[in-house]
Amino acid sequence: MARILITHATRAGATADVADILADALAGAGHDVDTVPVAEGPSPEGFDLVVVGSGIHATAWYSEALDWLSAHGSVLAGRTALFNVCLNAANPMKRDETLDYNRPAAQLVAPVAQESFAGRYVPERVSFWKRVFMRTMQAAPKDHVSPGTIRAWAAVLADRVPAA
Ligand SMILES: Cc1cc2nc3c(=O)[nH]c(=O)nc-3n(C[C@H](O)[C@H](O)[C@H](O)COP(=O)(O)O)c2cc1C
Repeated sequence: MARILITHATRAGATADVADILADALAGAGHDVDTVPVAEGPSPEGFDLVVVGSGIHATAWYSEALDWLSAHGSVLAGRTALFNVCLNAANPMKRDETLDYNRPAAQLVAPVAQESFAGRYVPERVSFWKRVFMRTMQAAPKDHVSPGTIRAWAAVLADRVPAA
C-alpha cells in the first residue's frame, strides 16, 4: 500500500471530478489516498506518489497549480504524476497538443507519468468575460469527462508508485 496525495486546481469543477475518480480508483486498488485542492496548500511530504492536476485556460495550467509545483519541486521530483483537463483532449488528433499543455509543469518536477483528459464546458459555471471569449471560439456546452479513461490511467499509476 502506498500513500498517495491527489491535488488539483479547478475553475468549473471538471478537474475536481477527475481527481475524485482517480482517488476512488486508487483507494479501490488498496492505496491510502488524500485528496486536497491545491488552493488549500497541502504538504507533499511523506507521500510515495503525488498526483497533480489542473484545468486549462488559454493553453495554460492554472497559476495556483504551477505555483504549488514550483514551491515544492525538490520534494516532488521523481514521485509526481501530472494531468490536465481540457476540451481539446476530446479530439484524438489534438493528443500531442494537449499533452504539451503539461510542459511548463513537467519542467518543474520531472513527472513519472502524465495525461490529458477531456473535460467539460458548462457556461453557467464560467465568468461573464470567459463566456464571451468561449462564444468567440464558438464553444458549445459539452461534457466529455470519461470515467473509464480516468480509471484506466489510475491503473497505470498504481503500477508506477515508487518503492516506499
Ligand atoms: C476561458 C476558457 C479558456 C479555455 N481554453 C482552453 C484551451 O486553450 N484548450 C482547451 O483544450 N480547453 C480550453 N478550455 C476548456 C477547459 O479546459 C475545460 O472547460 C475544462 O474542463 C476546465 O476545467 P475545470 O472545470 O476544472 O476548470 C477553456 C475554457 C475556458 C472557459
